[in-house]
Amino acid sequence: MEKSGMAFKISRMFIFLIAVASFLCVCFYTTLNWSDICIFCPKGEVVTSLTYFKKETEKFLQLPDTDCSKNPPFLVLLVTSSCDQKEARMAIRQTWGKEKLVARKRILTFFLLGTTENQYEQTDVLAESQAYKDIIQKGFIDTYYNLTLKTMMGMEWVHKFCQQSSFVMKTDSDVFVNVFYLTELLLRKNRSSNFFTGFLKMNERPIRQVFSKWYVSKYEYPGSTYPPFCSGTGYVFSTDVASQVLNISESVPFIKLEDVYIGLCLAKLQIKLEELNSKQTFFPIKLQFSLCRFVTCHYITPREQQDYWSQLEKSVDNMPSCLT
Ligand SMILES: *[C@@H]1O[C@H](CO)[C@@H](O)[C@H](O)[C@H]1NC(C)=O
Ligand SMILES: *[C@@H]1O[C@H](CO)[C@@H](O)[C@H](O)[C@H]1NC(C)=O
Ligand SMILES: *[C@@H]1O[C@H](CO)[C@@H](O)[C@H](O)[C@H]1NC(C)=O
Repeated sequence: MEKSGMAFKISRMFIFLIAVASFLCVCFYTTLNWSDICIFCPKGEVVTSLTYFKKETEKFLQLPDTDCSKNPPFLVLLVTSSCDQKEARMAIRQTWGKEKLVARKRILTFFLLGTTENQYEQTDVLAESQAYKDIIQKGFIDTYYNLTLKTMMGMEWVHKFCQQSSFVMKTDSDVFVNVFYLTELLLRKNRSSNFFTGFLKMNERPIRQVFSKWYVSKYEYPGSTYPPFCSGTGYVFSTDVASQVLNISESVPFIKLEDVYIGLCLAKLQIKLEELNSKQTFFPIKLQFSLCRFVTCHYITPREQQDYWSQLEKSVDNMPSCLT
């Protein structure tokens, strides 16, 4: 009797101690400013200004030979991918990226790339660029944490080489883009300036858990909420926005999340995010193919790009418009 009572007391004490320890762990984990003591974070990863980077990567290494002043495109699609994702780029070249005229409007597709330290990959990219003339490349190392540099390279390219276009879209190589539906919606919008749309994120907070892919230290971003921004899986804007974002970027502190960074620039420019349609059209998730449901959907493999595209081509002849 006495013995079992003692065991009960000890186990209760044990449970209590575990509870206290867990509680302390959670507090420690969520409130500490990890950047000060972080042993997992690569040192020197946090950079305060984009100008720092621009200096060492001023020159374009690859440029498409496109003259936007002759026959200005209606829409320019800028697709981010890494050097080793040739298969994904090929799938896009054969599907939604090959469409040059939609509703008699000109569309151009380009790929945004950084460089790789792998010499073989670098040589392949050069050959690919010469073969397809659709690669925009600069000298920064192509990593997830350099996506902001990649996006800003796209903005710079539009500003320098394609200001005559009407709209620009930034998207990823694992996204399906219904260029027919998008063109139709943009024509209806009929906007020429200060326009920005996509999958709107209005109340996102920085993720402070060190092990997350999206971890952002308080040093990198001290605020507790992000300004409104659009998911990087696909956003569209009137071409003037590219020059404005490039211009303001000199005074916007660097953050590695490219879509948040663009949101910070837009907030400073006082450009409001808008919906493209009364119903949702940009999806950061995967969906079954459906002709008039989405402009973008995510997690699409090269094989699925082909599959979705053949379904789109088949149905678009019978249904020339989604808006009637
Ligand atoms: C980003 O690119 C720069 C310039 O090439 C490079 O020095 C840096 O290491 C890259 N950053 C990351 C996190 O890979
Ligand atoms: C687009 O808007 C302009 C004014 O900004 C107007 O003159 C023009 O008629 C509109 N076009 C269409 C197709 O609605
Ligand atoms: C860039 O910013 C400067 C002020 O910082 C302004 O005078 C200029 O008009 C801006 N240019 C564009 C294209 O927005």
